Amino acid sequence: MIEQTLNPLAQPVASDPERRTWLLATGAAGGVAAVATAVPFVSTFTPSERAKALGAAVEVDIADIPPGGMKTVEWRGKPVWVVRRTAGMMAALQGQEASLADPQSARDQQPAYARNASRSIKPEVFVAVGICTHLGCSPTSVPAGSANPSVGADWQGGFFCPCHGSTFDGAGRVFRNKPAPTNLEVPPHRYVSETRIVIGDDRAA
Ligand code: FES
Repeated sequence: MIEQTLNPLAQPVASDPERRTWLLATGAAGGVAAVATAVPFVSTFTPSERAKALGAAVEVDIADIPPGGMKTVEWRGKPVWVVRRTAGMMAALQGQEASLADPQSARDQQPAYARNASRSIKPEVFVAVGICTHLGCSPTSVPAGSANPSVGADWQGGFFCPCHGSTFDGAGRVFRNKPAPTNLEVPPHRYVSETRIVIGDDRAA
């Protein structure tokens, strides 16, 4: 019978003590096997992976980011951008204050050391969480002079969220009259060398 082949527990085991003993032993062995399978799975997580899953800090090598380039890393399950600004990108952060909703970064969207015009520790390196502060879409980087019709002809470079059209300047400051209520978040971070930063931890080493 097919049923008997697929489901040995359907057998009248109570009438066959030997078979019943075997089935119980098999069941017990199955339980051990399940535990044995689960333990290696958990133990395959290295300490660093476990720590990452819990939101530990992430160290990033920024030496390979070219001027004008951007690297994206994951921290606490969120994309974090590291942008190496050019002189032109730094200059573009000046002069648009009247168009920005929070040009002085008065709202609590960054650590104190990033509450400045560049919203960064070093003006040439910008670190931000790449999640729109409206409803959580992922904005894209749009350089100055882009042919993207979603930004104006006078676009100085920055970020554009395709979901509802919010625009941010190159320091992640949101432009006025856009749905996003605040500037992009700058996560806690610090330099451990000229070419390496730690994201998620700004305590002095
Ligand atoms: S989620 Fe970015 S504008 Fe709405």
